[in-house]
Amino acid sequence: MNDTLKTIFTRRSIRRFSDKVISDADVKTILQAGMDGPSCCNSRCWSFIVVRDKDMMNKMADANVEYAEPLRQADMAVLVCGDLSRTTLFPNSREFWVIDGAIAAENQILAAESLGIGSVWLGVWPVKERVANQTALFQLPDHIIPHSIIAYGYPAEGEAPGPRPGRPEWEEDRIHWEKW
Ligand SMILES: Cc1cc2nc3c(=O)[nH]c(=O)nc-3n(C[C@H](O)[C@H](O)[C@H](O)COP(=O)(O)O)c2cc1C
Repeated sequence: MNDTLKTIFTRRSIRRFSDKVISDADVKTILQAGMDGPSCCNSRCWSFIVVRDKDMMNKMADANVEYAEPLRQADMAVLVCGDLSRTTLFPNSREFWVIDGAIAAENQILAAESLGIGSVWLGVWPVKERVANQTALFQLPDHIIPHSIIAYGYPAEGEAPGPRPGRPEWEEDRIHWEKW
C-alpha cells in the first residue's frame, strides 16, 4: 500500500493528546494542505484561525457546547471559516462555500495524519448555537462563517489507531454499479 493510501486508511479521530508540541514547520504544512484542495470555481472560500492559546481553546470548547472536550487537551485548534466575500463567482450557488470548507478541513486532517499528528473534527456549521457562539468569541465580521474546528495534537498513549468497532472496511451495499 502506498503512503497516501496508508494515511487515508489508518486515520482515526484522536480525542486525547500528549503534551508534545507541534512544530511551526508542521503547522505550516497542515495549513498549506488545507489550501491545496479543490474548490468551487477555484474560489477557495475559506480562512483559517489558528489557535494555540490554552485559554482560548477552552473558550472554543465552551462555545461549541458539547462534544468538544478534545480542545481542552489539544496543542492547536484551527477554526475553518467560510469567507462569503469570495463567493461572488457563483452567486446562484453560494452554498458551495460549505463544500470548500469541508475539503480544506479534511485535507488538513490527512496532512496531519501523515506527519503522525492526531486530530478530530468538531462540527460547528450548521448548528446555529455553535455558529453564533464561535462568531461572538472570535468577533467575526458578517462575511466570515465558522464552519468547523479541528483539534490537533500528538496522540496520547493508548490512542493508537485501531479498527473502528462495528464499522466494516468495505460496504458492498453502499455501492451501486452502473445504476441505482
Ligand atoms: C461534520 C463532522 C462533525 C463532527 N463533529 C464532531 C464533534 O462535535 N465531536 C467529536 O468528538 N467528533 C466529531 N466528529 C468526528 C466523528 O465523530 C468521526 O469522524 C466519526 O465518528 C468516524 O470516526 P473516525 O473519524 O475515527 O473515522 C465530526 C465529524 C464530522 C465529519
